[in-house]
Order: sequence, then structure tokens, then C-alpha cells
Amino acid sequence: MQKKTLVWLIVVAVLTVFLVTSFLFAMMQKPRVIFADSLRFPVNTELTLSDVVKDVQGGRLSEPEKLLDSSKKGLIQFTFTVENLFKIQSEKEIMVEFYSSDTPKKEEPGETEKPNTSEKPSTTTTAPSSTTTTKKPSTTTKPQNNGENPGESASLNPPFGSKGSLIDGVYTTSNGKTLEVKNGIAYVDGILIANKSYSLPKTYTSPYLQTETEQAYYQLQTAAVKAGILSEFKNKLVIKSAYRSWNDQNYIFNNYVKRDGLDQAMTYSARPGHSEHQTGMAMDLLTSSTAESKTEKFKPALDWLSDNAYKYGFILRYPEGKSEITGYIFEPWHYRYVGTELAEILYNHGDWITLEEYFGVDSVYRGY
Ligand code: DAL
Ligand code: ZN
Repeated sequence: MQKKTLVWLIVVAVLTVFLVTSFLFAMMQKPRVIFADSLRFPVNTELTLSDVVKDVQGGRLSEPEKLLDSSKKGLIQFTFTVENLFKIQSEKEIMVEFYSSDTPKKEEPGETEKPNTSEKPSTTTTAPSSTTTTKKPSTTTKPQNNGENPGESASLNPPFGSKGSLIDGVYTTSNGKTLEVKNGIAYVDGILIANKSYSLPKTYTSPYLQTETEQAYYQLQTAAVKAGILSEFKNKLVIKSAYRSWNDQNYIFNNYVKRDGLDQAMTYSARPGHSEHQTGMAMDLLTSSTAESKTEKFKPALDWLSDNAYKYGFILRYPEGKSEITGYIFEPWHYRYVGTELAEILYNHGDWITLEEYFGVDSVYRGY
């Protein structure tokens, strides 16, 4: 054999060994799993693997729609399978924390945020059993305003004390509606309002969904199944999130601030005490991701909800183009129960009116 041929054979052999080794190495590579930002959920949340795994680098989940058993409280470990680009499977583990949604959780260490209500009741405040206050506030009631407002029967002054705290009393909103602050909770025409201006006490707790809200949710789900818009979702109007305690919201909000910075986080997440999720009358349906909400899988269902949820008493709380008024970007998944009468008015034939506009109140943080 000629020397030149031998050299070529060696080069080809080395290259072949290199290519085969690289190929085998690539085949054996395990994908890298990136978990969702929060792995804490209320018990009985409908969860799939793709809800807890944000990304799989160098591969994909074998069963993204696999349901996770969320029926037990505490830290639960799940095993799941991922596959690399050569469809070779490997096992991964994830720990998810499920917490009880109807009992207030213990304070988490390292909390820095403080509730902005200075007149906190000393005992736990439970959510009212119906959407509205049982008795409409009378405009002749003398406000108990701790001397911070003039002693008129209904004051035009805003009901805010120092650092934005709410002062019990009866007030008139900018469009002449009656606003009552009772035990640190604001109601306009008997409808509870929670936004950047109007906070809830830290002690205010609720079941995962309040009774009236839950009943309306089941009716909405039945209608959605009949309309055929839930076939992509196993015929279930998935609730991604409903009640969140003050502490849950504190945890979530602080995580978003760490991830995106304060200014950005405030455009889509409420400070603790300011989230409607604390009322037990709000819920995120099907998704809570802007990107996902625009996809073919989610858009038709979310559009249907926007045109039909009002019939069951729900309002699209943060409509498109209203972020200057609500204080939040468009959230096509966030619905709030207000009862059918008001919901129909606010639906406004598809041109949503916000609670802020209808009630004549703002949504602005004070005292931070
Ligand atoms: N995403 C809504 C605004 C909340 O955090 O309550
Ligand atoms: Zn929400």
C-alpha cells in the first residue's frame, strides 16, 4: 500500500471515529429543563406539565398535557419524561408546592412589603358572602373618618389617609356614585372594588371562589362546553388562578419584580393587598400568558369568553386599550364576578367599560 493511501485511510478513520463519537454524544445528550417562575399552586388547581415547565432546551416534553395530581397539600415530587432531538427519552423530576386555598398561610420569611391599610381590623376579615353589600350605604350616614375628612354625610374628598390607607366612611365618586369604605374595604354601589387605589386588608381572606362566583363559573363552563370552544381543553374551563391571599400575592409580586424589575412588574401584577384575586371573585381562565393567549389554541376560546361571560355575571376586568384606566395591560384571561345586571352594562355590546370608568374611581398607587 502506498504511503499516501495509508495517510488518507488514517484521516478517514479518525474522521469517522470523530463523527460517530459526536453523533453518539449528541444522541446521549439530555435536554435541559427550565421550570416555571412559580411552582406554588392552590390544591386542586388543574395543572399540566407544560404549566410547570417553561422550556426544554435541546428537546421537548414527551407528554406536555399530562395532568399533575394536585389533590394533596405540601411539596409533591413528580417524575416526567423528556426527549432529546433524537427522540431518546430520559426522566426528570420536579417539586411542586400545593397549598390550601381557603386558609390563610403563615407569613413567609423575608417579607418586606407592608399592607397599605392602617386601619386593619384585629381579627380576620372574611369575604362577604355575596357580591354586593347587603345594605346599600346611606348617603346620610355620618362617615367615621378619624377626622381626616370633613364631617359631611357624603364627602367628595377621596377616602385616602396617609400612605394611601382607606378611611372608613361614605363618599361620592367623580361621577356621583356612592363609595363606602367599611372595615377598610371599598364598595361602589355595593360592589367591592380592589385596584391600585383601593386595597384590601391583609386579614381579608376568601374561599378559592366565593359561592355565587363559583355557581356562575359552573354555568359559564356549561355554556362554553355547549358552544364547543373547550374541545382543546378537555371540555374544562381551566382555572389557572382564583383566590390568592395577601401573602401569596406578596410572593408572586416580589418574584416578578426580581425577574422584570419594579416598573415592568407593576404593569401586569398587583402589589399585595391590591389584587382582585384576594377577593375570591376573580379568576384567570385557560391561560395567564399574553403570548399563549394569542395562539390558535387559546384565542377562539378567549374571544368567546369576552363575548359571552357577561351573561353569567363576569366582566373582562382589564380590557384592551384601557391600561391607562385600569393600571394593567390587557389580560384576556382575567374575569371578575359582578352579577349579570352590571356585567351586561359593562360589556356594552363588546366595547367594554371598566369598573373604574363606570364607578368614577381611579386606579393609582398612593403612598409607596
Ligand atoms: N394580574 C392582576 C392584575 C393581579 O395581579 O391581580
Ligand atoms: Zn388575574
